[in-house]
Amino acid sequence: MRIEELDTPALIVDLEGLEDNLDRYQRYFDQHGIGLRPHIKTHKCVAIAHMQMRRGAIGITCQKLGEAEIMAAGGIDGDILIPFNIIGRQKLERLTALARRTRLTVAADSRYTIDGLSTAAVARDVEVGVVIELDQGRTGVPDAETAVELGKAVDSAPGLALRGVMIMPAPPTARPFLREVLDAFDRAGLPHPTVSGGSTPSAFTAHEIPELTEFRAGEYPVGGVKHLDIGTHTVAQCAGRVLATVVSRPNSDRAVVDAGSKSLSAATASLNGQTVMGYVVEYPQAILGGASEEHGQIDLSNCDRKPEIGERVQIILAHPCPCFNEHDEIYALRNGQVEAIWSVDARGAIR
Ligand SMILES: Cc1ncc(COP(=O)(O)O)c(C=O)c1O
Repeated sequence: MRIEELDTPALIVDLEGLEDNLDRYQRYFDQHGIGLRPHIKTHKCVAIAHMQMRRGAIGITCQKLGEAEIMAAGGIDGDILIPFNIIGRQKLERLTALARRTRLTVAADSRYTIDGLSTAAVARDVEVGVVIELDQGRTGVPDAETAVELGKAVDSAPGLALRGVMIMPAPPTARPFLREVLDAFDRAGLPHPTVSGGSTPSAFTAHEIPELTEFRAGEYPVGGVKHLDIGTHTVAQCAGRVLATVVSRPNSDRAVVDAGSKSLSAATASLNGQTVMGYVVEYPQAILGGASEEHGQIDLSNCDRKPEIGERVQIILAHPCPCFNEHDEIYALRNGQVEAIWSVDARGAIR
């Protein structure tokens, strides 16, 4: 099947761009002796996770327990990190069941989380690994003192293994805080075999934090407008796209495509200082500035060439993670030929 035969809107991935990204990020982390632990929340696809593992990933990251269960069922069951506070009976039962079949590590930033994990692990007679999360504006502990206090709590809790610390994101500016915590861990005699950093925009500066043992990158395989804007990805390397059809040209300066917030997601990103919902590959001067559920609105006023009704365009995603979550399948293309149709296996796995 060729791309021309696909109905729209469709989530497509260009295999050359995807493979290029998988190779170049893996190569960088290999060169610097840092383990790459891809975050699968972006693609939620077992087939892509296997490609990442085959290239040398040390394991995967899943934001949600449901994602981890689906990946493990798909054979990605060697080593999973869930950088999230897992609390509540329902999840703890599932977590400890999963810990029977995979080496599992979760994040914690409170006694509440640690106590729940320990009780559940003991009840099931499993070991759950824990990393203490350091706050960078989302979740995590605010200082080294609290990190040590919680590290000690994990270290002495039955059923738990203290594996170290994690931080999100991990730009070079995060290093002093990380260093302070690791020094405090050392003074307290606490182990930290894992020092986990993350986020694609700071991936290529990971070597500036020599303390990192591993790195969680999610969006690097497919890129997006943000990556185009900061220059980590070229247009060709922004491999994840929505194929859409121009369905209306209400006036000479406007085109409407059949991809709105239900296929692109409602995410926006900044490109050259402008807020956009995507980047139209064939019309770089066009501005996809807004969308309702099924209509993407494209401003053509800066374009010398303009699309006709019925024409198809490829849209680079403002934010790949929510976009992939809107689709059942991914059409994997090479030179316009459909080489595989992959399921977005963990689509909707929000628990
Ligand atoms: C804990 C954690 N690690 C890693 C990532 C991956 O970051 P990116 O999507 O920028 O690659 C995320 C993304 O939100 C995250 O929440």
